[in-house]
Amino acid sequence: MNESDPYLLGYRPAEQERLERQALELAHESSWLFDQIGCRQGSRVVEIGCGPRGCLALLAERAGANGKVIGVERSAEQVERARKFVADSHLTNVEVLCGDARETGLSEASFDLATARLVLVNVPKPELLVKEMVRLVRPGGVIALHEPDSTTQRYDPPLPAQPRLLQVLNTYAEMNGIDRTIGLKLPRMLRAAGLVDIRVNPSVHIYPPGHGRRTLLLEFVENARGRILEKNLIGKIELDDLTAALKNHLEDPETLVLSSVFIQAWGRIPNQ
Ligand SMILES: C[S@@+](CC[C@H](N)C(=O)[O-])C[C@H]1O[C@@H](n2cnc3c(N)ncnc32)[C@H](O)[C@@H]1O
Repeated sequence: MNESDPYLLGYRPAEQERLERQALELAHESSWLFDQIGCRQGSRVVEIGCGPRGCLALLAERAGANGKVIGVERSAEQVERARKFVADSHLTNVEVLCGDARETGLSEASFDLATARLVLVNVPKPELLVKEMVRLVRPGGVIALHEPDSTTQRYDPPLPAQPRLLQVLNTYAEMNGIDRTIGLKLPRMLRAAGLVDIRVNPSVHIYPPGHGRRTLLLEFVENARGRILEKNLIGKIELDDLTAALKNHLEDPETLVLSSVFIQAWGRIPNQ
């Protein structure tokens, strides 16, 4: 973890595996988004912060043999996983670049679509990523984002450990300039970046027993555990007690788990 350029979720092996699962869990929602946009055969697409899979396969299928998909990812380990995934899946129109998506070095106005999913919510100064996406897309092209707002997360029956852990995680994020409620602000960010014809699609989920995303809060706290303790945001004994209580509660099949609200927002670069 780079202290001066923090990334909230870190790069534990368990987190990288979670991201591989996530690509499958969110494929349906992302497919819906790309269908709305009308991502066509022959399109040139860039995915910002693609992680080990992201939307690369969905985009490759839509762009087709005459199109091109570029993934930009700053973690060398994630890039390695993504390149292996691309090779194993025979995605011949996909290339994964290792670098900072705030400064890709790719040519201006050279893409029809730039997209990012669950990236802005984990980094400081997310507007710098949007700025680079705007630079990369041609007039008439589209920028599409998909990010959460954590404020709707709730369980029934409620458990005091849940809001407390959420608050600790959000406080740690805020201290690092990271906004875990960014989802709802996406349309405003796109407008501020000069986009037009902005559309928005919200979704909230129930994560039943056995669902891969039911334990997200626990996993995120685990990802940031060392850093949270280092900053003295909570004592180790309290943190252990809260996470144990949360784990028990989530294992109870009768606990209802309501997700963050996820906002998909997209808009067009004005024609000149
Ligand atoms: C939560 S993961 C989401 C991965 C993928 N988009 C998905 O939806 O499954 C966020 C990813 O963004 C990457 N990332 C964060 N900041 C970045 C930057 N400035 N440039 C490139 N990648 C970045 C992280 O390394 C991580 O792989």
